[in-house]
Amino acid sequence: MPVVTLREILKNAGRGKYAVGMFDVHHSDMAEAVLEAAEERKAPVILALAEVHAVQPGQLTAVGSMLVRAAERAGVPAAVHLDHAVSVETAVRAMELGFSSVMYDGSALSLEENLENTAKTVRLAGAFGASVEAELGHVGGEEGNSDGSGGSVYTKPEDAAYFAEMTGADALAVSIGTVHGRYREKPNLNIPLLEEIHRRVSIPLVLHGGSGLSDQDFKDCIAGGISKINIYTEIAEAARMVLIEDAGSLGYFDLMQKSKRAMRAVAAEKIKLFGSQGKAPALSEPGTPPQETGE
Ligand code: 13P
Repeated sequence: MPVVTLREILKNAGRGKYAVGMFDVHHSDMAEAVLEAAEERKAPVILALAEVHAVQPGQLTAVGSMLVRAAERAGVPAAVHLDHAVSVETAVRAMELGFSSVMYDGSALSLEENLENTAKTVRLAGAFGASVEAELGHVGGEEGNSDGSGGSVYTKPEDAAYFAEMTGADALAVSIGTVHGRYREKPNLNIPLLEEIHRRVSIPLVLHGGSGLSDQDFKDCIAGGISKINIYTEIAEAARMVLIEDAGSLGYFDLMQKSKRAMRAVAAEKIKLFGSQGKAPALSEPGTPPQETGE
């Protein structure tokens, strides 16, 4: 089935009170693990490649093209997304490869620079029919980094409304207390802040730093207006633990197979928690109703 845009894949999430899972992957076993989990759960899914995971020459092309082909073969609606592009040029290269969605991450820039670059990415994406996710405020931490906390700047609701309108972005990542990577302390999410942003912003809201949150955190975030949840660390950790525990007894092929099964189990569990299980058929049918906006 054709690769789906972010706008399309998120269009029923707000009204349906579920979130679509986005999983960062950087090789074919990871991608297959996520797609198999989505097919098992009959769920729409977003396969993502982060710019930090495509630093070798040719890696964006090789992994990106593989993801586009894998999403096309999937039995559920799948978007292919570039996560955390810090340059507009990389976002354009990804769209040339067939990514249906890019995140331009200007969250470390001033509001004005972030707005200008995001709006430029949105204009360029129009030619590809691709969607754009933006970030306002800053979600701290680093993916896969055990020292994951710190450096966050919470999203200001009044800026968020202005930013969303001026950039024309399709989705907005918000900073409400999550961090990328492992949490040093129990996460303390600011749900009233999320609700306030949701009241003011009409495009779907995105939660980064999903690994390490509790089932209740996910429920509160989805009820508060989150339509897309990003996961990387927990998937990567599941694979890493298999390598640590079984490297002495299994050969390389069996290790890879076992780590793939472990990643698939994590993705399947998250999809169930996000409430997107069984939501694929509605999206696969033509003529589904238009996207819901924030109340
Ligand atoms: P985690 O690595 O904390 O799951 O965060 C993933 C993420 O937000 C990718 O953008």
